[in-house]
Amino acid sequence: MTDIKGRAAVVTGGGSGIGAGLAKELAKQGAAVAVADIKIENAQKVANDIIAAGGKAVALHVDVCDRASIKKMAAEAKAALGTITLVFPNAGATSFDALMDMSDDDVEWILTVNLMGVMWTTRAFLGDMIAEGKGGHICATASMAGLLPGWIPVHVPYSAAKMGIIGMMMNLQCELTQHNIHTTSYCPGGVATGMKKNNSSYRPAKFGGPGQDEVHVDEKVSFNNNMPKFYTPADIAPMVLNAVSNNRAFAFDHAEHRKEFQRTYSSIVEGCYDDIQAWEDKHGTPTPNPTGPVLEKIN
Ligand SMILES: NC(=O)c1ccc[n+]([C@@H]2O[C@H](COP(=O)([O-])OP(=O)(O)OC[C@H]3O[C@@H](n4cnc5c(N)ncnc54)[C@H](O)[C@@H]3O)[C@@H](O)[C@H]2O)c1
Repeated sequence: MTDIKGRAAVVTGGGSGIGAGLAKELAKQGAAVAVADIKIENAQKVANDIIAAGGKAVALHVDVCDRASIKKMAAEAKAALGTITLVFPNAGATSFDALMDMSDDDVEWILTVNLMGVMWTTRAFLGDMIAEGKGGHICATASMAGLLPGWIPVHVPYSAAKMGIIGMMMNLQCELTQHNIHTTSYCPGGVATGMKKNNSSYRPAKFGGPGQDEVHVDEKVSFNNNMPKFYTPADIAPMVLNAVSNNRAFAFDHAEHRKEFQRTYSSIVEGCYDDIQAWEDKHGTPTPNPTGPVLEKIN
């Protein structure tokens, strides 16, 4: 179990949508919350709501595409609330364009904000979490688009980044169990937020700067005709914190995705492993010595 009450938390992208929902629910369950966002005015509104409801919060500016900005925000969060032991790297941005229709800058932005933003945010807090010795949790917002890359087409850099988060969280767990720190990949599968409308306004200057255009989603190709039902951030936040409390490797929010998950992975397991089983039946299994007889046979 990871207890929420009495801990200090940080939520990046806490100024709107899922991050705002998580920040408010964390405060409701007794955590003090650093609400960090590239749009400080939105983070401040969320922090004000938490304080008005009797909770403890501070609003901080961060651009998760900028390592120095993350380090500054982590120092400010610690100064305001003490050692942060609940980390929610959640800030992100999306794209709904075919890979070759995207600019180089946008490809790099989507990978940086979604993947490196989570990496640098995790690293900015983890040293203190380990040193504190009181356990804790890192719950990064990935996506069903990471777990089921074929679910939403025209999502290549986004899907790569979100799959990367899942690998990061699962591998990091191997290092952190000894410290009683746990990791979760939260895979939203349809939450009504401001992302579609506001997405291009999140683009930092080094990737071309903010735009005003809405995300264009081509109805013909989007969601493989499998449009998700949308929860609200207030609906999903208790589901995510329940997964965190129970130290689950994943937090999901749509039970209907179980079938899609099973279909995707069973076709991989059955198809690809049938092939390799047939190969090994014919050529033999590997020996402990990598330069041994099996490799010689294959070569
Ligand atoms: N809404 C969904 O259905 C859905 C599905 C899958 C994954 N997600 C993921 O959930 C997370 C939250 O998205 P949301 O749906 O709440 O959208 P949202 O647009 O409401 O929130 C995104 C937040 O991130 C902030 N942000 C963007 N770039 C930033 C940066 N460089 N530094 C700091 N903050 C930055 C924005 O200001 C905003 O507050 C994202 O990682 C997104 O990819 C959402």
